[in-house]
Amino acid sequence: MTEYSPLQSELKKLIKTSGPMPVWRYMELCLTHPKFGYYVSRDPLGREGDFTTAPEVSQMFGELLGLWAASVWKAIGSPQLLRLIELGPGRGTLMADALRALRVLPPLYQSLSVHLVEINPVLREKQRSTLSGVRNIAWHDSIDDVPDGPAVIFANEYFDVLPVHQVVRRENGWHERVVELDSHGKLEFGVATDPIPRFEVLLPPLVRAAPIGAVFEWRPDAEIMKIASRVRDQDGAALIIDYGHLRSDAGDTFQAIARHSFADPLKNPGQADVTAHVDFQSLVRASEDIGARVHGPVPQGDFLKRLGIETRAVTLMAKASHEVSEDISSALKRLIGTGRGGMGSMFKVMAVSEPNLTSVAGFADEQETKAELP
Ligand SMILES: C[S@@+](CC[C@H](N)C(=O)[O-])C[C@H]1O[C@@H](n2cnc3c(N)ncnc32)[C@H](O)[C@@H]1O
Repeated sequence: MTEYSPLQSELKKLIKTSGPMPVWRYMELCLTHPKFGYYVSRDPLGREGDFTTAPEVSQMFGELLGLWAASVWKAIGSPQLLRLIELGPGRGTLMADALRALRVLPPLYQSLSVHLVEINPVLREKQRSTLSGVRNIAWHDSIDDVPDGPAVIFANEYFDVLPVHQVVRRENGWHERVVELDSHGKLEFGVATDPIPRFEVLLPPLVRAAPIGAVFEWRPDAEIMKIASRVRDQDGAALIIDYGHLRSDAGDTFQAIARHSFADPLKNPGQADVTAHVDFQSLVRASEDIGARVHGPVPQGDFLKRLGIETRAVTLMAKASHEVSEDISSALKRLIGTGRGGMGSMFKVMAVSEPNLTSVAGFADEQETKAELP
């Protein structure tokens, strides 16, 4: 379906005047163009929107993440102030569920200050209403603006929306993948004329052997380095959850999602979510390079099971009607399932912490943190 896309005319004008545009810049404009960007103008979540995320599937997800934050707080010596930071908090659902779970621990609940890093004004309004009544809450444009202090940081489906570079292997080296205009003036993919000098030396070993025509995707390390250096220096831990791969490898995962289906990423720019899978190996490498400790990554299903999601589901089902019970059971399957539509293995979870935190809940085999919620 073709919709009116005011961003498309802008992009075409830009390409006509400045030449082909790298894929990362195209993605950045599609998502965050100040007037027509996808994440500037709408709430894309839920059944009526374009996609559904884990916190929107079930309250169990945010509740368990709340308990995870509590376990980190205890492990770092129960500081009197803990900053609970969420990057890209959507509708505020994860934070609301996490805070509800944390109420069972008054000393921690009272020490919390909540920080939401969000660029989308429509979603900020939703978050304000979801989290009305929460004291000590602030919104920020970037993690750079969050005041210092021990922190637990959540980033669920945040990294996949950060702009990605695509490079393509040709006989003479690796070339930046670009968006350009075809002979009819339509957007199409192409490759930059010249190879990127000495790009091979930066490539992970598996990718160096990729065949001609292979695509490799990479994101700058800036965002993960900010997160990792913050927890390294100021105590605490970050939890990164996203769909992606454990090993850096070649492959084209640049995609658009509209109304719960895949769409052509060059059609209707600004009207669909454009994303690419997260390369967890590169997040691990960047975090370890600057001296933070990495836990995982592990499949989301394993992580949630270790945190006690099955017990939590049983507790909720015991108090629910037959119909609600069925909903809880299908939400559980969706969150931990590994079959079609399941998020259990497609999504990975990794934590980054200060170096002295040798283990955090959800990553070892023993069942350390069980849900103990009313
Ligand atoms: C895919 S949604 C995930 C929402 C939420 N974490 C959830 O799981 O429901 C991406 C979120 O990141 C926000 N976002 C996108 N780009 C961002 C950026 N550069 N800085 C901060 N937030 C951003 C979006 O507005 C949205 O809240």
